[in-house]
Amino acid sequence: MNILVTGGSGFIGSALCRLIARNSPHRVVNYDLLTYAANPLSTADLAGADNYVFVRGDIRDADALARVFARSRPDGVIHLAAESHVDRSIDGPRAFLDANVIGSYRLLQAAREYRDSGSAPENFRLVHVSTDEVFGSLGPEGKFSEATPYDPSSPYSASKAAADHLARAWRRTYGLPTIVTNCSNNYGPRQFPEKLVPLVILNAVEERPLPVYGDGMNVRDWLYVEDHARALLAVLESGRVGESYNIGGDGEMTNLELVRAVCAELDLRRPRRGGKRHAELIEFVRDRPGHDRRYAMDSRKIRRELGWAPRESFAAGIAKTVDWYLENGAWRAAIPAASYRARLGGAET
Ligand SMILES: NC(=O)c1ccc[n+]([C@@H]2O[C@H](COP(=O)([O-])OP(=O)(O)OC[C@H]3O[C@@H](n4cnc5c(N)ncnc54)[C@H](O)[C@@H]3O)[C@@H](O)[C@H]2O)c1
Repeated sequence: MNILVTGGSGFIGSALCRLIARNSPHRVVNYDLLTYAANPLSTADLAGADNYVFVRGDIRDADALARVFARSRPDGVIHLAAESHVDRSIDGPRAFLDANVIGSYRLLQAAREYRDSGSAPENFRLVHVSTDEVFGSLGPEGKFSEATPYDPSSPYSASKAAADHLARAWRRTYGLPTIVTNCSNNYGPRQFPEKLVPLVILNAVEERPLPVYGDGMNVRDWLYVEDHARALLAVLESGRVGESYNIGGDGEMTNLELVRAVCAELDLRRPRRGGKRHAELIEFVRDRPGHDRRYAMDSRKIRRELGWAPRESFAAGIAKTVDWYLENGAWRAAIPAASYRARLGGAET
């Protein structure tokens, strides 16, 4: 297959491009605007591969999208390009509506025109990548299923919810073959350092405070990024058009437990002076407005239908992740300091 990936220079997109280029028989075109969230070093190792092409472009640009469809003639699209940081969406929601809603709309229209032009292969399909955050917040029990009603809390999750609805509407109204995926929190290498896991690692090694929102008891269902990438490729290859698939790791953990787990890894690798523990750097900060208490995914459908399951245990995945950030200072240095959001509050999950 020729696969067009949008947002392939970001955290999850770069893992997906690497999976396709290195471990699949397919070819991949990465279409990415290279916003502050992208790091060109995240795909630098793919530059010489004959089944990987990078095209710099904006999903809001209809002409550029028409060109990339015409040139790459994709069998499938996996759409990840988005503004993805909840805290930034609280400070400035407009950019999220532009990228996530209008951008997704333009991409759906471009895919529709490509399909209608007759140049798309017969089984052409588009996978729209979304989040568990569209479902809102859970109480202490239960999990989100594919049938859970949408109830987003933040401008970010509301913009993703809108895009999910567009993807479904384009299927029902125009017959565009779309599939929606909703995934839980990802962790792993190459995540923008405003996010909780890399922020904790990078702050801790510099002996800076580790900000944790509220009481630290918000629960997320953590999944290693490469497991998400495998799920997305499986959905593109074998998912049922018109369906949605929840993707999760059965890895429920409070933010505090997660931060402590990262600190414990750092204690082993980079012990602090005077026998202090990295966890002593934890500081509780004022909670995020509208902060959802708990997310947990019921991912039985994708496991049953597509035979997907996470391969990475949390213990092994977090150890690999900590090692990666400690060993890849050049990746971190390639992100201009000015592109960081002022870290006055808690860390982004
Ligand atoms: N990170 C998570 O835990 C998580 C979980 C579930 C779903 N998701 C979804 O997965 C997708 C990828 O998330 P991520 O964490 O890798 O995000 P990211 O912020 O690391 O990457 C986003 C990428 O999209 C690109 N982009 C942004 N606006 C663009 C535009 N207008 N045109 C073209 N490219 C543009 C950026 O340059 C960047 O490379 C998003 O759609 C997000 O909502 C993320």
